[in-house]
Amino acid sequence: MGTFPDGFLFGTAQSAHQVEGGNVNSDWWAWEHASGTACVEPSGDACDFYHRYGDDLVLMAGLGLNALRFGIEWARIEPEEGEFSRAALDHYRRILLACREHGLAAIVTFHHFTLPRWLQAKGGFLLDGFPALFERYCRRSAAALGDLMAYACTINEPEGLGEGGFVLGVNPPGRKEDIDGMWRVAGNVLEAHRRGAAVIRAEAHVPAGVTLALPDLQYEDGATPGAHPLELNARVSDQFFELARDDDFVGVQTYTRNRFGPHGPRGPHVELGKRLPPEQPDTTQLGQEVYPQALGNTIRRAWQRTGGTPILVTESGIATAFDEKRIRYVDAAMREVLACLAAGIEVRSYLYWSLLDNFEWSLGYGPTFGMVAVDRQTFARRPKPSAHWFGEVARARALPDPLV
Ligand code: BGC
Repeated sequence: MGTFPDGFLFGTAQSAHQVEGGNVNSDWWAWEHASGTACVEPSGDACDFYHRYGDDLVLMAGLGLNALRFGIEWARIEPEEGEFSRAALDHYRRILLACREHGLAAIVTFHHFTLPRWLQAKGGFLLDGFPALFERYCRRSAAALGDLMAYACTINEPEGLGEGGFVLGVNPPGRKEDIDGMWRVAGNVLEAHRRGAAVIRAEAHVPAGVTLALPDLQYEDGATPGAHPLELNARVSDQFFELARDDDFVGVQTYTRNRFGPHGPRGPHVELGKRLPPEQPDTTQLGQEVYPQALGNTIRRAWQRTGGTPILVTESGIATAFDEKRIRYVDAAMREVLACLAAGIEVRSYLYWSLLDNFEWSLGYGPTFGMVAVDRQTFARRPKPSAHWFGEVARARALPDPLV
C-alpha cells in the first residue's frame, strides 16, 4: 500500500478557544454567556492548554507525532484596538519554542472563529475595516513569532463564518437568514486572507495559506446543485480555491460527505441548531455519516481546483464514544491520502482533529473528537488506544496491514 514520504507531517489540530480556557476577552465567551443562544454550556477552563501545553507537547512527542497545528488568539494578543500584548505574544513564543524542542513542526492558525470583543462590537466580519485590522494583527504576530513557525494558516474555514453567524445564527453575532450579510462577510474574509497571507510572507517568510471546510458534496441523478445551507459554504470555497492558486499551500478539512437527491439532502447530515440524534454505527456524535472516503475526493478536488497548490490535510476527524471506530476511520482516511500521493498529488500532512476531547462550540463538551480524554475536574489526560495507534503509524510512516 506504500509508505508516507520522508518529512510527511503526522500530528493533531486544535484552535485556541477550544482548548486554552478562560478566553474572556473574546466574542465567543460573551456569546456562551448570553441568554437565548444555542450554546449548551460555556467553555470555562476548556482543557487548560494555556497552562498545560508543556505536558501536552511531551505527550505528543512521546507518542511519535511530529506536528501540531494550534491557534493563537487575537483577543489575547490585541485585547483593545491597537493595544498589543507583549505578554500574550511571549506566551505563544514559549509554546513555539517547546514545539521546536520536542520535534513538532508548528502549524499556526491566526484566526479560528473568535474575535476580540471590541472588534465584534464594531461590526466584526462585516466591518469595512476588517481586512486592514486583520492585516495589522498578522503583521505584529508574524514579526514576533514567525521565525518559529513551519506554516501559517490565516483564517480557519472562512466559508462558515458568514453562514454560522448570519444565516443559521449559531455563532456570534447570531443573525439569521441574512444571505446578503453572508456574502458581504465572504468578501471581507477573502480580502483579509489575501492581505494577511501577504504580510505574513513578507514579515516572516513563512509559507501561508487558508484552511477550507470541504465536505464531499455528492449529487445523485436528478439532483441539481443549488443553494441549500449545506451547499452555501461550497460556493464560498470555490472563490478561495481561486485565491489559493497563488498561496503556498491549501488546507483541506474534511469530516464527511453530504449527498443530494432530486428532493434535497439524503442520508445523515448535520442540522446545526437542532437536537443531535444519538450516535449509530454509521453516524457520529454530530449526526454526520461515517464516510472517511470523503477525504480522497476533497483532496483531489482541491488539487484540481487550485491548479496543483500543495495540500496540507489540516483537519480530519470523528466525534465518537467508540475509540475502535475512530481507529477504523483514521485508517481509512489515511489510506485515501496514500492513494492521492500515489496519484502524484502533493499532500504534506495528516492532522487529526483533535488531540484532546475539547470544547465543540455551541455543542459544548458532549462530542468527543479526542485521541486523548480529558478529566473535566482534574484536567488529567488519558490517551486512548487511537493515540498509540496513530503514534505507531507516524513512527513507521506506514499503515498496519488492512484491518479486517
Ligand atoms: C472546526 C473545528 C471543529 C471541528 C469539529 C471544524 O470545522 O475547524 O473548530 O471543532 O470542525 O466539528
